Amino acid sequence: MAAVLEASRLAPSAANRQEYKFLVVEDANLRKALVPICRNQDFVGEAPVVVVGCATNPERRYSFVDVAIALDHLALAAHCYGLGTCWIGAFSEDEVKRLLGIPDGVSVVCLMSLGFPAKEGVVRSRKNHGELFSQDRWPN
Ligand SMILES: Cc1cc2nc3c(=O)[nH]c(=O)nc-3n(C[C@H](O)[C@H](O)[C@H](O)COP(=O)(O)O)c2cc1C
Repeated sequence: MAAVLEASRLAPSAANRQEYKFLVVEDANLRKALVPICRNQDFVGEAPVVVVGCATNPERRYSFVDVAIALDHLALAAHCYGLGTCWIGAFSEDEVKRLLGIPDGVSVVCLMSLGFPAKEGVVRSRKNHGELFSQDRWPN
């Protein structure tokens, strides 16, 4: 797990501000308590680790982007080590903050479960190249 967290630590951030904090939730009671806060998504309680990505200066323009980049580094590093992750965007921010003692002025951007995948992942569809990329200018 240290190497996976290290990938987040090394992630780039706008102006290298690094205005974020990541709570690594391993306590079983806390993980269980997160389930109803995350719209009863059971996997949240089943994963051995849930990382809570927080922006410590949420008024700043790129604060949420920076947290997302760091979490994505975590996800990619986890994959390299044979671990699985899932983004958790469905949560009550107020309740997460209350449960974990996150102070006012800090925003919870996203959570991410981390653990050994219970089953093989399914490959989900993506838009094709032409729908996403456009040469030089906005497409007509
Ligand atoms: C910001 C964000 C929030 C997400 N929130 C949830 C979530 O709360 N629960 C969940 O099961 N998946 C969540 N996902 C996962 C997406 O549904 C998933 O990545 C997408 O359907 C594509 O599937 P794939 O990652 O397996 O290719 C989230 C993904 C992102 C990027």
